[in-house]
Order: sequence, then structure tokens, then C-alpha cells
Amino acid sequence: MVCALDAGLPVSGGSAFFTLQMVETMTKDKVRVTDLAQMKAERTPIAMLTAYDFAFARIFDAAGVDVLLVGDSLGMVVQGADSTLAVTLDEVIYHTRMVARARQRALVVADLPFLTYQVSVEKALANSGRLIEEGGAEAVKLEGGVTMAETIRRIVDIDIPVMGHIGLTPQSVHRMGGHRVQGRRSGQTAGCRERLLEDAAAVERAGAFALVLEGMPGELAREITERASIPTIGIGAGIDCDGQVLVMHDALGLSESFLPRFAKPYAHLWQEASAAVTSYVREVRERAFPTLEHSYGTKRA
Ligand code: KIV
Repeated sequence: MVCALDAGLPVSGGSAFFTLQMVETMTKDKVRVTDLAQMKAERTPIAMLTAYDFAFARIFDAAGVDVLLVGDSLGMVVQGADSTLAVTLDEVIYHTRMVARARQRALVVADLPFLTYQVSVEKALANSGRLIEEGGAEAVKLEGGVTMAETIRRIVDIDIPVMGHIGLTPQSVHRMGGHRVQGRRSGQTAGCRERLLEDAAAVERAGAFALVLEGMPGELAREITERASIPTIGIGAGIDCDGQVLVMHDALGLSESFLPRFAKPYAHLWQEASAAVTSYVREVRERAFPTLEHSYGTKRA
């Protein structure tokens, strides 16, 4: 049976009225998980940036960012913690909702926080579902390789796209002994070069649609990228990944002082915001703001 949508016929429901063609036009440029594979095939680098609220997500989406990541880095850059470990699922959902409202073109991916997927596959499935259903994400991201392969497979099996994340995985900060570059040593233990190659292969076999490579030597990231048929997205992983991701605070110079070596500030918003607010405070003190221009007149009867 051909339904109205299949046939491109007008469909009405209450005051809504649209055709399939109109839906396709509205979403023509929308980035889908399937487009990222196409971008790898065409050697078009993928631009991904973290976002945590509506205003910045609107700016990034309109500027052409392909993937907006609601990262659990929000624990550090938004909440001021020294790790990502205390971020909760409810907090990621809250921020994802704001980002998803701003989305027009970009793919929205949300992080599964620490302990929301490692404890059991059942928990991982339910929590991934909440990021999609309540947050409005189109895919989830989780950290880990070989040990997380079965979990990735099961989430993909219920039709939730998964982005993997290996190398410097911030949720493993205590095992790594700090936020340290991984893959510099040879061996079969977690974080070693050979193990990272296995991790990448396991994540791909499990059905992930893309893989974040964080904090590893550029040559290793290149080897993983060449071997993988899914796109790799690097952060502190050299120049040869299929795409790049930065935390928005690093890209916009929004942090007070520390900037990791791999990051590049494309603006200096900390200084700009600081100068702007200093001016505001001065003008309030000097009664230079507000002026009559910013005031409402008394309404006459
Ligand atoms: O949480 C995050 O922002 C991330 C990126 C650094 C990849 O995982």
C-alpha cells in the first residue's frame, strides 16, 4: 500500500500540512550518521565541536560544524570539576536538549557518562535510549575498545548509532594515572600501541559508525585511520584523522589560562568577555549606563 508520504501527497494533521518533498527540502543538508562514511570516502574532513547550550550550538550549526558533541567534558569546562567522572546522565540529557533545539544541519551526538554503560548491557541500552528519547541526540558516544565491543554491538542492535572513543579516555583517568597520551609504549595492556590497534578494530567490528581517537601519537592515529573503514575523528591525535574535534572552550579561548598543546584558540573570548564586563561594571558605577536611550517613558493616560 502506498501511503500519502510515500506518494509525496499532501498530509494534514490538525494545522500541520506538508509533503514528503517539503520534508526532504527542509532536511536536504542535514548531516546523518551515514554521511560521515561518505565524507571519509570522499576525503572531506569532518569538523566536530563540543556544545552544551542553545546559543553556542546555534552559532556552530550555522557556521557549518558537521557534528555537535554534548561531551561529558561539560563536567570540567561547564561545571568546573577536575575530571568528567561525576557527570550524570540527567545532566547530559539537560544539555543535549538545549543543543538539539538549536540543531538544523549538524548531527547531535551525546556522551554516555561514567558508569552509565560499563555496569551492565541492560543499563547501557536503557541509558542510550534516554539520550535519544529525552535528550534528542541522534547518536551516543562511549569510551573503550575491546572490553566495550559487546556493549556497542547491543546498542547498535537496537538501532542507536554509536560513536566509539579510544586512546586517552578521560573516564579512565585513574587507571591512566592522569590525562596522559596513550599508545607510546608497545604491549598488550590497556593503552599500549598494539592494544589500541585492537581496540579500534573491535569498535569497528561491533558496528560503530565513527571513532574518536584522543591523545595518541600521530603515526598511530594514521595507522588506525588507514586500517579503519569508519571515519576517525582526532583530538590530540595528529594530522591524519578523517576529522577533528575540539572542546569549544579551547577553540574559542574561553578558558582562563590553561590551553592543551593540541588545541588552537580561534578566538580569545575570555579576554573579550572580561573586557566587556569590566566596562559594564565601570559604567554602572559611573551611572553612564543606563541612559535615557535605554529607558522606558512614563505612559500617559
Ligand atoms: O567529552 C568530550 O568533550 C569528548 C571530546 C574531547 C572528544 O569526549
